[in-house]
Amino acid sequence: MALNFHSRGFRVFATARNPDSISSLAALGITTLALEVHKVESVKALRDQVLSLTGGRLDYLVNNAGTNYTVPALDIDNEEVHDLFEANVFGVMRMCQTFIPLLIEAKGTIVQIGSLTGHMPYIFSSGYNASKAALHAYTNTLRNVGILLRLWSAKSLTMYTGNLTIWRQRGACRSRRREKQSISRTSPIAFVFTLQTRPSGI
Ligand SMILES: NC(=O)c1ccc[n+]([C@@H]2O[C@H](COP(=O)([O-])OP(=O)(O)OC[C@H]3O[C@@H](n4cnc5c(N)ncnc54)[C@H](OP(=O)(O)O)[C@@H]3O)[C@@H](O)[C@H]2O)c1
Repeated sequence: MALNFHSRGFRVFATARNPDSISSLAALGITTLALEVHKVESVKALRDQVLSLTGGRLDYLVNNAGTNYTVPALDIDNEEVHDLFEANVFGVMRMCQTFIPLLIEAKGTIVQIGSLTGHMPYIFSSGYNASKAALHAYTNTLRNVGILLRLWSAKSLTMYTGNLTIWRQRGACRSRRREKQSISRTSPIAFVFTLQTRPSGI
């Protein structure tokens, strides 16, 4: 995503817990900075760096950092789930709160990396599914508050990302010929669904 924005002429600030891990982006001219979304000081330090580098404007805030925890639902360790929510939910809230002044200044957009699992929960990931559902609800609230109260001009949208496996049923094929032509009975496809940020005209 950072490379894509960069190739379209945006000035990109890419973050990682350890910026050395994204030195290949720095080599291309992308500014790389440290960020741990679960730490207030780290988020504020990033905001101060971006402020001084941009003069206080940010067009897009992409909240991509996230983590997973795959364990049967009744065996979860609450501390692990708490850490997961720190990254997937509280960290995002912290980022939005901290960066909203820069986004308002630029009439910018908050982009949340949500997940299909927030709507279609997958087994063994109850904490993750719940965190993404919470993220979706939080973002919908941000959008509604922004629209209804006209508090800010910044927009927010959620990317519902995920992988789907389509099972093609034999009976669904109209002819044996077509059936033979189908690539596979399980064709994985990448599915990205974006929500419109606000009704047109507002
Ligand atoms: N992969 C999928 O199938 C899928 C499907 C739907 C949604 N998503 C979402 O897409 C996003 C990216 O996931 P991915 O699949 O690319 O996973 P990934 O390769 O594990 O990337 C997650 C990134 O988040 C960072 N991160 C985790 N906790 C952090 C924290 N507390 N502070 C700062 N950075 C933190 C990780 O940093 P480190 O490198 O330092 O560990 C890592 O770079 C996530 O929000 C994920 O939930 C993924």
